[in-house]
Amino acid sequence: MTKQVAVLIGSASQTSINHSTIKHLQKIAPASLQLNIFEIGDLPLYDRDLDDQDIAAYTRVRAAVKDADAVIWATPEHNGSYSAMLKNAIDVVSRPAGQSLWIGKPLGLVSANASGSNRTVDALRVIASSSHINMPVCPYAGVIGGIFAGAFDDNGELVSEQAKKTLQGFMNAFETFIAKF
Ligand SMILES: Cc1cc2nc3c(=O)[nH]c(=O)nc-3n(C[C@H](O)[C@H](O)[C@H](O)COP(=O)(O)O)c2cc1C
Repeated sequence: MTKQVAVLIGSASQTSINHSTIKHLQKIAPASLQLNIFEIGDLPLYDRDLDDQDIAAYTRVRAAVKDADAVIWATPEHNGSYSAMLKNAIDVVSRPAGQSLWIGKPLGLVSANASGSNRTVDALRVIASSSHINMPVCPYAGVIGGIFAGAFDDNGELVSEQAKKTLQGFMNAFETFIAKF
């Protein structure tokens, strides 16, 4: 049976290399995994006073996570950590209090940056271990450097053999990890 993976990307840029990275992962995904991208750029900034309100964008992303067998968080590095856009979505899906939809879903971490760094995924591991998130995390993260390393061509296609190898390694590890659940 094909497992459904909800992918949340912390960049809505028209030229996002994180989107390009996920598109590459979609291409190399095994038949057992389907990667579905859910846009999060339109989510209003979370505030707990919004918990009582019917916000369509919140309902959509919460349903996407609820229905998924597994999740991928993908993010650029913004000033040494994950993007605020991704953190906002993480907060939205963790609330209202006691109704977090993250808990127990297996998680893969991907980060495509200007130069490549593990800081973003390390910071996301801390979030994943917090009590209202509590997700098991695939130990192999897909971290690549993009712009300066020339990993992508002008059409957003991944051309770096090294980055392709890293992402294949991530996909293999993620497939094995997901199969345990
Ligand atoms: C606000 C901001 C902060 C950034 N901070 C970092 C950083 O700390 N380290 C880094 O390697 N790149 C940093 N970058 C560069 C991003 O990694 C680069 O713009 C990347 O393309 C963003 O991913 P995206 O194309 O998916 O939006 C920053 C970019 C922005 C817009």
